[in-house]
Amino acid sequence: MPIKLLIVGGGRIGGALVAGLVSSRWAEPAEIGVVEPDVARRSELVARHPGLAVVDQPDVAELVAGSSFTADEGGAILAVKPEVAEPACRFIGTAGVRRVLSVVAGMPTDRLEATLPEGSVVVRAMPNTAVLVGAGISAIAAGSRARSFDLQWAEGILSAVGTVVRVPERLLHAVTGLSGSGPAYIFLVTEALIEAGVLAGLPRETSELLVLETVKGSAKLLAETGASPEELRAQVTSPGGTTAAGLRMLEAKAIRSAFLEAVAAATERSRQLAL
Ligand SMILES: NC(=O)c1ccc[n+]([C@@H]2O[C@H](COP(=O)([O-])OP(=O)(O)OC[C@H]3O[C@@H](n4cnc5c(N)ncnc54)[C@H](OP(=O)(O)O)[C@@H]3O)[C@@H](O)[C@H]2O)c1
Repeated sequence: MPIKLLIVGGGRIGGALVAGLVSSRWAEPAEIGVVEPDVARRSELVARHPGLAVVDQPDVAELVAGSSFTADEGGAILAVKPEVAEPACRFIGTAGVRRVLSVVAGMPTDRLEATLPEGSVVVRAMPNTAVLVGAGISAIAAGSRARSFDLQWAEGILSAVGTVVRVPERLLHAVTGLSGSGPAYIFLVTEALIEAGVLAGLPRETSELLVLETVKGSAKLLAETGASPEELRAQVTSPGGTTAAGLRMLEAKAIRSAFLEAVAAATERSRQLAL
């Protein structure tokens, strides 16, 4: 069967995309080809998705033979570490692929375009780690030759593992500092709350359960009620009550300013790494 998508790099993101695309029926396992140098990882992917073709680089020509990878049809996802992204992208072009969706952090589209044959299309995405559980948020940006239906193609793929928004490429640094690093901020808040529960006298296991369910429940309220964070916070903050006392302390410790500066610092770091 001809494949319609080649995934170069079968690591965490590559593997999550295979799982999402198969479970959402975007493709049958046999319509996806994965290029992965690690033999153990190759076996793991095949065991998880019977019918998936997972090969090492030397076998790619055989894998893509009979498949059409023009700029209008099919394509490849580049899901390798930044340090090997350009050689891997050059290799994708050699294999005949003319449309690439890159999830490589910090690698600009013009550098990838320069490694590909003339006329090839690049779309760049910044997903976050929650794609591993199908609840990611990805921002996508068009390279210089990407057309509206290329963005639709990329959106269709990344929708299998979460939500997708479109931004101009220059905003991807801010996306990286906000939603790319965002899960780590939430994990840190979660850790701190668990410690706070222990300090307040709760057994650690109880504190963990209380905090994890609080985080999940709060996210569900935000997602399902349509109310803003401010409205939901006001609803649980009685005048002179316990929540007001806790929030006053967080404001006194400049929590808002800490988050503003954290996102600004991560955004700036993303800019520096791209130089
Ligand atoms: N994980 C995230 O949450 C996240 C979020 C946003 C963006 N990203 C970006 O996504 C990309 C992949 O991240 P990841 O977390 O999935 O990394 P990963 O788990 O290390 O996966 C990368 C995979 O690519 C393989 N690989 C290396 N060189 C290759 C080549 N020339 N051809 C084909 N495959 C090759 C690696 O094999 P070996 O291990 O044998 O080298 C590894 O299995 C990175 O550029 C990262 O910046 C990741």
